[in-house]
Amino acid sequence: MSVPPPAARRYAELADALRHHDYLYYVLAEPEIGDQEYDAMMRELEQLETAHPELRTVDSPTQRVGGAVTKEFPTVTHDVPMLSLGNTYNEEDIRDFHRRVIENLGLDDVSYHVELKIDGVALAVRYRNGVFERAATRGDGTQGDEISANARTIRSLPLRIRDGATAPALLEVRGEVVMYKEDFLRMNEEREASGEKTFANPRNSTAGSLKMQDSSVVAQRNLHVFMYSLIGDVPGVESQADAMSFLHRSGFTVSPHAKLCHSIEDVLDFWRHWELHRDELPFEIDGVVVKVNSLRQQDALGTVAKSPRWAIAFKFSARQASTVLEDIVYQVGRMGTITPVASLRPVLLAGSTISRATLHNEDFIRDLDLRVGDTVTIEKGGDVIPKVTAADPQHRSADAVPFTFIAHCPACGTALSRPEGEAAWFCENIECPAQVRARIAHFASRNAMDIEGLGEAVVDLLVERGFISSYADLYDLDGRRDDLLSLERFGEKSVTNLLAAIEESKKRSFDRVLHAVGIRFVGQTVARILSQKYRSFQALKEADPSALEAVDGIGPRIAESVHRFFTDGRTVDLVHRLIDAGVTSEMPEAQETETLPFFDGKTFVLTGALRMFTRDRAKELIEQYGGKVTGSVSKKTDYVLAGEEAGSKLDKAVSLGIAVIDEEHFLRQLPEATRTSEDSV
Ligand code: IVH
Repeated sequence: MSVPPPAARRYAELADALRHHDYLYYVLAEPEIGDQEYDAMMRELEQLETAHPELRTVDSPTQRVGGAVTKEFPTVTHDVPMLSLGNTYNEEDIRDFHRRVIENLGLDDVSYHVELKIDGVALAVRYRNGVFERAATRGDGTQGDEISANARTIRSLPLRIRDGATAPALLEVRGEVVMYKEDFLRMNEEREASGEKTFANPRNSTAGSLKMQDSSVVAQRNLHVFMYSLIGDVPGVESQADAMSFLHRSGFTVSPHAKLCHSIEDVLDFWRHWELHRDELPFEIDGVVVKVNSLRQQDALGTVAKSPRWAIAFKFSARQASTVLEDIVYQVGRMGTITPVASLRPVLLAGSTISRATLHNEDFIRDLDLRVGDTVTIEKGGDVIPKVTAADPQHRSADAVPFTFIAHCPACGTALSRPEGEAAWFCENIECPAQVRARIAHFASRNAMDIEGLGEAVVDLLVERGFISSYADLYDLDGRRDDLLSLERFGEKSVTNLLAAIEESKKRSFDRVLHAVGIRFVGQTVARILSQKYRSFQALKEADPSALEAVDGIGPRIAESVHRFFTDGRTVDLVHRLIDAGVTSEMPEAQETETLPFFDGKTFVLTGALRMFTRDRAKELIEQYGGKVTGSVSKKTDYVLAGEEAGSKLDKAVSLGIAVIDEEHFLRQLPEATRTSEDSV
């Protein structure tokens, strides 16, 4: 079936516009349109592709969300090997490098292009006739893994070169993929909360992400890429500085803050500056890279072994501090994991005061032979999180006792166990008060049931005073209003708000509820996968581990854990109580995807007289697709849906710069099927 010309035209128009807006947003960070407009265009493009699949190209903007699953990454050979760099750590070495360069070139001076040494994962990307062809990892420098499907999800990587007509037919560009520090910390928090292994640093999590089989999961990791080299000859490009401006013009994000230095003193200044200011960058750097600017001079200098003679990495030293290990304390996670934590004499390290550091597990402490009272070295290297790297036995007091892990849970006294093959000790008492509190706090947390006003402190208080001992008890609190009012910190208003927020949470989507109930290894992503596939608690309960394992993205560990949860009388009982209380326990029938990006996680305020919807209907729709509605406008508000005669809330939104939308706009964000006549009057 051929595509009607108007549809094909509209398709090309939309695809071009979306590519342009991707560039403005992800590369230049200067968006010209709002999320809602962008999302509406994307949805129209998707609809066109669904109606006419032949329109979809490999570089379509829709391909960013991933979906392709790769079981094994094919090996590719790099036409031009991916070299590594020699390292130096001090001024002397860098002056030596400079001396060798000018000697070899037979010149008096030379210019250097000095760049940040971004601490991520190298990526080589090939474009044919201006269109993305493939992306590969460095591997051993000669051969790497082809990870095109995953690379395509990186929004700052163009799938089509801007002004491609002037680019060579075959173009290879190289750069560094990173995860921003704040995304890394958030991801680790979530992984920790769901009992998954955490990553040591952003680089490891980037490497892990790029090697994932399911590209749709990679798409959610929010990776970024910064380009720093152009392979092969491009007319007009005669220096590294030229290469960078060519890359910039072509639509790539290039390594930021680079500087053309005409003396080695300039190079040293740049290095000193970034050693001091590295924490201000959103991503990790571990030094600067000094490159001879002229490509002709680079050629003349050539390469030794696997490193070029024309470039060197001038690294920062790891930031270290020395302090006293005052105590080893233990944290109980909601799954019963016992994590040892170093309690340190406060010390300043790279601009922040450190008084705690994780000690991971028993083996970590044993391997370093850490003892309470020891003087220890803490370090902030490529990592965001400081770590204890060594104990100093010379300063050890004669009576320092070798470390032994506690045998009993610090919260409930239950004997701990360490299952075979695991590094962690566990408290297996599911009623352990520390676990109970952590589970309820997780249940109420923003990514789970999002119960406003029920933070850790309130949970602790309610547990301590015997109001609740499980998350299911939350839904019985409405019968105990008067008792709650007797609590010192609770006034009329806060009790009303809390009870309303709990009531409200019953409507959360099924995948959120599934995440909230606290199944080991079931974080947000896995909960989403499971809820799409098995659409209710009942169906999950009936699923056997082998069927679960057959689902894409579900491994044996997760399958086993889900099965255990649904065969344990205690957890099953909690789930039944949630269902009885009216908490969402299944995915609605006709609803394929339960949230929409426009609404998901966003906060709306409704104001003025709505014509097309009742307030309740608008609210229901927003919540159905993942958003929430609050009563007053604040900095946390994402959108104000304004009807006629909107008053002070609208004024406030305008003064805070919050997006204001009207009903028509709102209607357009909804899937076609939802825009039934009952929604419009
Ligand atoms: S140039 C021969 N520039 O550092 C040129 N590399 O050991 C080699 N890196 O594998 C690359 N930032 O992953 C270059 N501005 C930058 C860089 C950079 C980070 C990484 C890259 C490379 C490693 C060198």
